[in-house]
Amino acid sequence: MLVSSLVFSVSLAALSLGQQVGNYTSESHPRLSWQTCTRGGSCSTNSNGAVALDANWRWTHITGNYTNCYTGNTWNTTVCTSNAQCASQCAVEGANYQQTYGITTSGNALTLKFVTRGENTNIGSRVYLMASESKYQMFNVLNKEFTFDVDVSKLPCGLNGALYFVQMDEDGGMAKYSGNKAGAKYGTGYCDSQCPRDIKYINGEANSEGWTASPNDTNAGLGGFGTCCGEMDIWEANSISSAYTPHPCSTTNDGGQQRCTGQECNTPDRYGGLCDPDGCDFNAYRMGDRTYYGPGMTVDTNKKMTVVTQFITDNNSTTVIPHASTNFPGLLDPFDSITEKFCDDGKRAFNDATSFQKHGGLAHMGRSLARGHVLVLSIWDDHTAKMLWLDSSYPVDADPNVPRNRSWEPALPTLGNRRTSEANSPDAQVIFSNHQVWRHRPALTLAPPSHFPNPLSLPATPRQLEVTPPRPPPAPPPLFLRRLPPPLAQLKPSSVQCGGVGYSGPTQCAAGTTCTAINQFYSQCV
Ligand SMILES: *[C@@H]1O[C@H](CO)[C@@H](O)[C@H](O)[C@H]1NC(C)=O
Ligand SMILES: *[C@@H]1O[C@H](CO)[C@@H](O)[C@H](O)[C@H]1NC(C)=O
Ligand SMILES: *[C@@H]1O[C@H](CO)[C@@H](O)[C@H](O)[C@H]1NC(C)=O
Ligand SMILES: *[C@@H]1O[C@H](CO)[C@@H](O)[C@H](O)[C@H]1NC(C)=O
Ligand SMILES: *[C@@H]1O[C@H](CO)[C@@H](O)[C@H](O)[C@H]1NC(C)=O
Ligand SMILES: *[C@@H]1O[C@H](CO)[C@@H](O)[C@H](O)[C@H]1NC(C)=O
Ligand SMILES: *[C@@H]1O[C@H](CO)[C@@H](O)[C@H](O)[C@H]1NC(C)=O
Repeated sequence: MLVSSLVFSVSLAALSLGQQVGNYTSESHPRLSWQTCTRGGSCSTNSNGAVALDANWRWTHITGNYTNCYTGNTWNTTVCTSNAQCASQCAVEGANYQQTYGITTSGNALTLKFVTRGENTNIGSRVYLMASESKYQMFNVLNKEFTFDVDVSKLPCGLNGALYFVQMDEDGGMAKYSGNKAGAKYGTGYCDSQCPRDIKYINGEANSEGWTASPNDTNAGLGGFGTCCGEMDIWEANSISSAYTPHPCSTTNDGGQQRCTGQECNTPDRYGGLCDPDGCDFNAYRMGDRTYYGPGMTVDTNKKMTVVTQFITDNNSTTVIPHASTNFPGLLDPFDSITEKFCDDGKRAFNDATSFQKHGGLAHMGRSLARGHVLVLSIWDDHTAKMLWLDSSYPVDADPNVPRNRSWEPALPTLGNRRTSEANSPDAQVIFSNHQVWRHRPALTLAPPSHFPNPLSLPATPRQLEVTPPRPPPAPPPLFLRRLPPPLAQLKPSSVQCGGVGYSGPTQCAAGTTCTAINQFYSQCV
């Protein structure tokens, strides 16, 4: 009698529950302190800060035993017959941050190692700053400054140590989606402006229906759904290059988390979805300042640096310390920060698609930020585009003296092996520390910003993965996920080069246009 009633209640529970929590490893978030400061410089320390590992990196197994629900790049279809069924039978586990994932904290510093060899090999990681055990820390940065220190000296090209904001739900979606029993504590609810489809659980359900394992990447796969939201990249960088990029999304609540399917997820038409995948990026090198950022350069990446980003709205402004400036005389005015005009003129000059403008540009990004964002810190490599969009010519044979040709699809087959790989960068890491929000403005306003961040680096003063399970036998193999294609733009066919230093192609222009020098390296038919 006792036994059968127990069985009954267990199976009832299994039918009514969703994404479960495992209990083989207890979840203990590494502490990470950070500060809020006043304009005058007095700071108070938030010592309850901590980080939580994203759910995608975690071991997911059948509730109650060690059988994997997901192995390598495939779901166990015996358990996962539907998204809801799968979530009701499978649990995500607590993480062993240091041993399995190479994530350590000390005071206000977070170190993310790229490759961690334990029982299995872990590649990369993604963590979120927590306000409490079960809630993400929400940031509203408008009219404030966000400051952190970063050490990229051991982060070679091809890798990306990223620090950014996304409009995730504060509780990881637990309240909204009854199937989600894990919540922010287990790093659920991720979304970004690429509308990633490599996410294993979305909206309290698994993403197993329609999951396609990558044919050429043993650790990657894509599900039937993606998850979109507004994203503000403060820092995407390695020791060679850095960029910062707003990406607005036309999702619920000015850019809030929304599950997408089909074309909504920006595929097959990259610019026909809910979000702006390219963003309005400012990469000093790409914008023409070749000596600003790198080893031994103005911002010497051999040293730890401080990055200050100001979120200036249109009814307030402040003294801006100069960032690198765009340097394409005749083609683009000098800009040292991301403004509406920089985005409009830059897209035009670079012949980039205007999905940033289509999704409302900075004004919409500002409304999204006003809703509150979660802070993400990650280290990742790029199995799709090898991070070339960040730290190289893209495509690889593009002329660096013309605004970067970032055409995307056609270039892929010509790319070689990943330049920096798991194998040849075992010691790569990024250290983020000393996070501060300077409250140097009074109350927040919901005003759309017209000026935007200005990261300033002062010398001397962060998708994908692998899940490795904890101890108990049999040790399930690693799981991987990769971030989807990074910001890239397609060329519109309008601009035709007809001259410039180093150019040897045709110099004739079509009837009605004349060959006009844009700068010494580039003339085009206008
Ligand atoms: C937690 O462990 C108990 C046994 O101690 C087991 O019955 C239960 O199903 C486990 N829960 C999960 C989600 O694995
Ligand atoms: C794990 O649980 C599932 C479903 O209850 C069962 O089919 C399977 O045999 C179990 N595996 C082990 C190793 O106990
Ligand atoms: C899939 O799950 C079933 C239990 O439902 C289990 O017996 C089987 O071994 C699992 N397959 C893999 C590859 O883990
Ligand atoms: C892997 O295969 C997919 C689909 O065939 C293709 O689109 C992609 O470019 C390939 N990636 C690499 C790195 O070869
Ligand atoms: C940009 O690159 C693509 C692919 O390599 C090429 O077809 C196109 O002609 C290039 N455009 C310019 C303006 O260089
Ligand atoms: C901008 O903020 C400063 C500092 O709080 C304040 O003194 C100033 O009046 C504000 N300006 C506007 C136009 O609101
Ligand atoms: C800023 O401007 C917006 C309208 O653009 C207005 O609603 C808001 O009250 C202003 N805030 C301040 C502090 O002036």
